[in-house]
Amino acid sequence: MTLRIAVLASGRGSNLEALIDAMRTGHLPIEIVLVASDRADAIALRIAEAEGIATLALDPRGYADRASFDTDLFARIAAAAPDLLVLAGFMRILDPAVLAPWAGRAINIHPSLLPKYRGLRTHERAIAAGDATHGASVHFVTAELDGGPVVAQVKIPIESGDTSATLATRLLPHEHRLLVACVGLMAAKRLALEGDAIVFDGRPLAAPLKFRDGRFDADA
Ligand code: GRF
Repeated sequence: MTLRIAVLASGRGSNLEALIDAMRTGHLPIEIVLVASDRADAIALRIAEAEGIATLALDPRGYADRASFDTDLFARIAAAAPDLLVLAGFMRILDPAVLAPWAGRAINIHPSLLPKYRGLRTHERAIAAGDATHGASVHFVTAELDGGPVVAQVKIPIESGDTSATLATRLLPHEHRLLVACVGLMAAKRLALEGDAIVFDGRPLAAPLKFRDGRFDADA
């Protein structure tokens, strides 16, 4: 069965592109039914348009407050009837009330080894802390910013001389593969969220899955 996906993105859209590639090449049984953004100039929207995917740009400045923007955005998302919502570089905090119905059906890709470095400037903060490794996480979305249960992580070494730019560039292709693989797990119905606990292949997941060399570690 094909998983219907809506993607929320504010910018460059390289994670969206990775999903589109995987869809077009038959590596993911998905249909992207909507790409929505809070920025009309988001490159992600141009990528979707070029692929003939439905898009939506809503400007938060046209709304009285966060709650009314989020309510309208999520009503329009619901109208597209996605099975899964993927946040891929969506740079806004979302109202807990609109997220509640999406528990277990919304994931986010975040460029850090959560719970380290929620929020912004993750690469810079990892280098400043003297960390030996950095990485990316895919987590279920909850009301807490970058705080939902973590499904899977990919790790890369921080090299001497790394700047936040070089580290971000090196991490990005790993992020893409991690996100595609996690969406694949959702499409295969191998993941579920029960309360705060992730269930993977019918068993509670004690720790995030480790993603290495393009696959999930068997022992994870
Ligand atoms: C990625 O680093 C993602 O992890 C973070 O925002 C960035 C989005 O990049 N949440 P892109 O728009 O997918 O290229």
